Amino acid sequence: MKICVTGGAGFIGSWIAEAYVGEGHEVVIVDNLSTGVVANVPKGARLVEMDVTSDAFDALADAERFDVINHHAAHMELRVSVEKPLHDAHANILGSLRVLEAARRTNVGQVILASSGGALYGAQEVFPADEEQPWRPMSPYGVAKGSMELYGSCYARIHNMTVTALRYTNVYGPRQNPFGEAGVVAIFLEKALSNAVCTVNGAGDQRRDYIYVSDVAAANMAVTRHHLGGVFNVATGLETDVNTIVAALARYMGKTIEVHHGPAKPGDLPRNVCSSERLTSATGWKPQIGVEQGIERTVAWFTDRWRRKNGA
Ligand SMILES: NC(=O)c1ccc[n+]([C@@H]2O[C@H](COP(=O)([O-])OP(=O)(O)OC[C@H]3O[C@@H](n4cnc5c(N)ncnc54)[C@H](O)[C@@H]3O)[C@@H](O)[C@H]2O)c1
Repeated sequence: MKICVTGGAGFIGSWIAEAYVGEGHEVVIVDNLSTGVVANVPKGARLVEMDVTSDAFDALADAERFDVINHHAAHMELRVSVEKPLHDAHANILGSLRVLEAARRTNVGQVILASSGGALYGAQEVFPADEEQPWRPMSPYGVAKGSMELYGSCYARIHNMTVTALRYTNVYGPRQNPFGEAGVVAIFLEKALSNAVCTVNGAGDQRRDYIYVSDVAAANMAVTRHHLGGVFNVATGLETDVNTIVAALARYMGKTIEVHHGPAKPGDLPRNVCSSERLTSATGWKPQIGVEQGIERTVAWFTDRWRRKNGA
């Protein structure tokens, strides 16, 4: 199939693009390189440097006639979305709507949308959250993900399209941007490699559901292979606190990590954890990489990159 991966020069999108190439698909990556980098583009995929919110995207979709559009391009910074909600809505709502419109117009067989469990469910009352839990977004970013999903389910209903929303928990692994606001594993790793202090917000007892990026890519392959529409959490159902993450990083790096506990971040939720039972029973997909193994692999990748960059 000919598959468009938006955001494919970014962290998760590049793993998905690589997995599609591995399954023999023709892959076209659309990315404006705002946070993504050319080095992430896997061999065998074609990069088109372009913004999904632009008219040029319509022209590309018309010319290419994709079989699948896998939409991962987005602005990721929650805090920026609070400060600049219009900017966030432009990229994350209008960008997603443009993708859906292009898919409708050009008869794309399946649209996959990258959504977020944590940003949508907000302060959970049920642990782990299944897909039927109410939305309580704590940021315009979460509202945008919810809007994207509503447009997606509406398009599925009125245009008879296959639209799949995948709600990820906290994704981590090689190629994650360590200079953003989210992604504690990558941020702390980069700091620890340069012997900088890692600031933990509050006591570090906030618990998250950390999922390794290859498991997320495998979930995308599973819903593509099964041509499966609907809404699915992509999660491990397991919780790990920040202090445990720091301890695991230190262990696999073989060094002491200097930690400073700053004030708790306002709105930082104590627990986010989701259940993927729906996806498992529909496709057989299950996460394969536990948090220890995932951190070990991520440490190895970041350490190697850091050494090559710094000639160490
Ligand atoms: N990382 C996580 O834990 C997580 C959790 C839930 C959902 N998600 C979602 O997964 C997707 C990918 O996230 P990521 O962590 O890989 O982030 P990322 O920043 O590494 O990837 C996003 C990519 O999209 C590109 N991009 C941004 N705006 C664009 C635009 N308007 N047009 C074209 N390209 C654009 C960026 O250059 C980048 O390559 C996003 O939709 C994000 O909301 C991520």
